[in-house]
Formats: sequence, structure tokens, C-alpha cells
Amino acid sequence: MNWRIPLADVDIGSAEIAAVQKVLESRWLTMGSVTRQFEQEFARQMNVKHALAVANGTAALHLACLALGIGPGDEVIVPSLTFVASANAIRYTGATPVFGDVVSLLDLNISPLAVEKSISPRTKAIMVVHYGGYPCDMPAIRAIAQKYNLKIIEDAAHAVGGELEGISLGCWSDIGCFSFFSNKNMTTGEGGMVVTNSDELANRLGLLRSHGMTTLTWDRHQGRASEYDVVMLGYNYRLDEIRSAIGLVQLSKLENNNEQRRKLSHVYHAAFNEVLPEVELPFKDYRGKSAAHLLPVLLPAAASRKQVMEFLKSRGIQSSIHYPPIHLFSIYQTFAGQNKRSLPVTEEVGRRELTLPLYPAMTPDDVALVVTTLKEALEFSQ
Ligand SMILES: Cc1ncc(COP(=O)(O)O)c(C=O)c1O
Repeated sequence: MNWRIPLADVDIGSAEIAAVQKVLESRWLTMGSVTRQFEQEFARQMNVKHALAVANGTAALHLACLALGIGPGDEVIVPSLTFVASANAIRYTGATPVFGDVVSLLDLNISPLAVEKSISPRTKAIMVVHYGGYPCDMPAIRAIAQKYNLKIIEDAAHAVGGELEGISLGCWSDIGCFSFFSNKNMTTGEGGMVVTNSDELANRLGLLRSHGMTTLTWDRHQGRASEYDVVMLGYNYRLDEIRSAIGLVQLSKLENNNEQRRKLSHVYHAAFNEVLPEVELPFKDYRGKSAAHLLPVLLPAAASRKQVMEFLKSRGIQSSIHYPPIHLFSIYQTFAGQNKRSLPVTEEVGRRELTLPLYPAMTPDDVALVVTTLKEALEFSQ
């Protein structure tokens, strides 16, 4: 579909093309020196000791769970208001996701209170998700983790470049996980990163990423090693040089693009206050520095979201829903380990949330058009 205003758009230009060409001409395509450079630059910008590039954000989450020793019989507390990958990664290890409700209609991050209430003798870790790039209450989550001796994984798929109290999102926990999927704030097409300040976890993550092998093909190509041992059951979750080259360029654009996203979010909020005050604005107020990945709004409870989305579509404006709650999906309804608690705030957000277009190349005029078209859509659907 040829959208007039798509939901998301990439910022890819001649620098990415040149970087890819350089890799192709180098004739070394899999994990090597460009990937190492990408990891080092990512770690430097996030001010974290270790960064390891991986195949995608889901692989990052799976590796994080494995490296922390999460497995059958364990429970991990996670929001239901997130992409299904967060909970799936827990299930890949045989552990059980236990869903915690979000704070409120205006703060769509997991509630520390709900986290504490969900703790059982089987709880091993808390997986938080910085929804839309807006920071979770990490000091409160950390205090709970310390009190009950739990690990923390940050799903920072939306949050690259965000901060709280001067600490990069993704770096508040044992392991932070990023996604560079095509619609994210920085992209490599498919790709991801795990970060940690622990030498031991970094070593485990590195082994798990590449079949548990003690040396890489790159080391052997460099003449640095001729043999390898396999010391644990690992995976092929590596990233290649082509994507790493794109990632390095994208990383250099991140701060400017995030700033543009934050500015556009403010333009949206001001326009809603003026034109459509009946629409509620999650993260109108928020802690820290947001990566402003998404622009979520809550439609009035009586509005037909389906009709609104159809109306916007008829005007060439793409919209989406973040998220249909995971605990309501068929596969999670029938999952034996599923806790049957209701999550009232998550479910209300799941019914009323609408995500509007947000990407750095949008103009304030585009934002105004989206808001006035949404006003028309709401009038039309009544
Ligand atoms: C919150 C969240 N977690 C995890 C993922 C998984 O990332 P990927 O698509 O790179 O596997 C995504 C995105 O797609 C996401 O939005």
C-alpha cells in the first residue's frame, strides 16, 4: 500500500549504501572486524562494558534468559502489553512467563507493585519492557530485584538512546536487549544487541551466540586460532558484517533522529490538547529521556477503533495497535503454565490504544494532518 503517511519510515541513505559496498568489496561477510567495531561503538555510546551483536531482538532476549540460567520450573515476570517475542523468549527456555499489569492508562510500563505481587518461590527474574521507548521505573524494579534476589532483563527493543538518571536504557539491569528490526529507531533490517557490565555474563552470551564454540571462524581466518572446543549448547545467533556496517552508520544518526522523534511527540501532544482533548495521551508526563519510538493514544472508550483505523487508511494514514495483550492470544490462553489472573489496565489499553505515525522525517504539518484526520474519523465513527 502506498501510504501518504506511513506508521514508520527508515532513515537510510548514501552512507549506509557506501558502508555495505565497502563490506562486500572486503570479501569478508560474516561476523568480523566491522561487527566488532559496531559492538565497541554501541558499548561506548551506551556507556556499558560489553555489547554483543546478535541476529535479532528475539535472539537477544533468548540469549539473555539462557545466560542467566533461566529454565524449566522457573518463572519470569513480564508485562503482557508488549510484543509476543518478550514472553516467547522466556518460553523457549522452558520457563513460565507470569504477566504483570501496567501502571495506569497514562504509564504503559509494568507496575512495580504488580511485579512484587507476582513473586513466588519459583520467580527467577523480572523482564521489563520500556514501552514505546519510555523508561520504566527502574529504581523501584531494582529495589524489588535486590529484596527478592531476582535477575533483571531489560527488553529495550523500543528504547535505544533513551536514558534514566543518566544511565542508558538497557544498562540498568543484568542484561539489556535491543532490536534493530526495520521499524525501530535504528535499523539493520534484522539485527539486535545484548549488553551487560558483567564479564562472566558477556563470556556466556558470546559462547551461546555461536554454538558454544571457543573460537570463531573469524579468529581462524585471522590465523589467531586453528582449533576449537564446544563447551555448551549454543545457537547460531550471529550478526553479519553487512548489517553491522549499516548499524554503525545508523548509530551515528541515532541521537539526532531520537531528538526529532521527541520534538514531534510534543507537537502531537500540543495538537491533541488543542483539537482533541477527549483523546488520552499516555506518557504525557514521563521520567528520564525517552527514545520516543511510538506515539500511543487512547481513544474514547465508546469509539470504534476498527472504524477509526479504516477511516485513517482511506486517507492514506497508517495506524497500528501496541499491543493486543499477550495473555489473550490463543496460544497463551491454552498454555498450561498460564496464570489466569486478569490484567484490567492492560486489557483496557489493549481495547483503546491506537498508535499513530512517528518517524524523524515527518513534518509538523504531517502531525497536524494526522490529528485533524483522527478528529474527523472519531466524528464519522460515532
Ligand atoms: C518490545 C519488543 N521486544 C522484542 C522484539 C523482538 O525484536 P526482533 O523483531 O528484532 O526479533 C520487538 C520487535 O520487534 C519488540 O517490539
